[in-house]
Amino acid sequence: MNHLIEHPVINDRLARLRQRDCPSSEFRRYVREIAQLMVPAVTATLETQTIEVTTPMTTTQGEHLSHPVILVPILRAGLGMLEGFLQLLPEASVAHIGMSRNEETLQPESYYFNAPEQLPDADVLIIDPMLATGGTAAAAISELKRHGAKRLRLACLVAAPEGIQHLNHSHPDVPIFYPALDEGLNESGYILPGLGDAGDRIFG
Ligand code: PRP
Repeated sequence: MNHLIEHPVINDRLARLRQRDCPSSEFRRYVREIAQLMVPAVTATLETQTIEVTTPMTTTQGEHLSHPVILVPILRAGLGMLEGFLQLLPEASVAHIGMSRNEETLQPESYYFNAPEQLPDADVLIIDPMLATGGTAAAAISELKRHGAKRLRLACLVAAPEGIQHLNHSHPDVPIFYPALDEGLNESGYILPGLGDAGDRIFG
């Protein structure tokens, strides 16, 4: 259920965006590029169904995805990964969840939810660069399940062991994909070594 994605180009981009003097314009680009490079691993086990294909020469069998794909960026920072996912999954629909972590209690506060009707039938890919305590992702998954989502997976850039443990316990049915497993959290709930506040670095 926990998938560490290992790829040299992703690692190159990660090292660049972790640098504290990486400007927003480049930070955004690296987040988008890593997201795009993650798509094959995140979607590798999506269910397909056999269909008949008519080529210019003959008929044969092919495969189509069995379910519509819904991407769910967790606002705000998840928006930074959205374009990378949409480049390879242009037919996907997009749901939005607004979650803000209270910086004192570290508890997530939900402020927005908007999902397409086909949520219960869809493969739902939640995207958020940071998995810290895991509170935000766990709350987002609970809200999506309350609205009928059944097949969910989470993609993030940098994960802390605490967040992975939290999610494995609270939502054991949801696989997690991440190219970086960091050391842990500091007393303020920030990931170490991490990359700072992804939302602020993407949007200023
Ligand atoms: C950050 C990040 C995650 C969350 C992770 O968002 O993008 O959503 O915190 O923390 P957690 O795992 O401890 O819950 P933030 O609340 O800073 O909002 P933002 O994306 O609007 O900056």
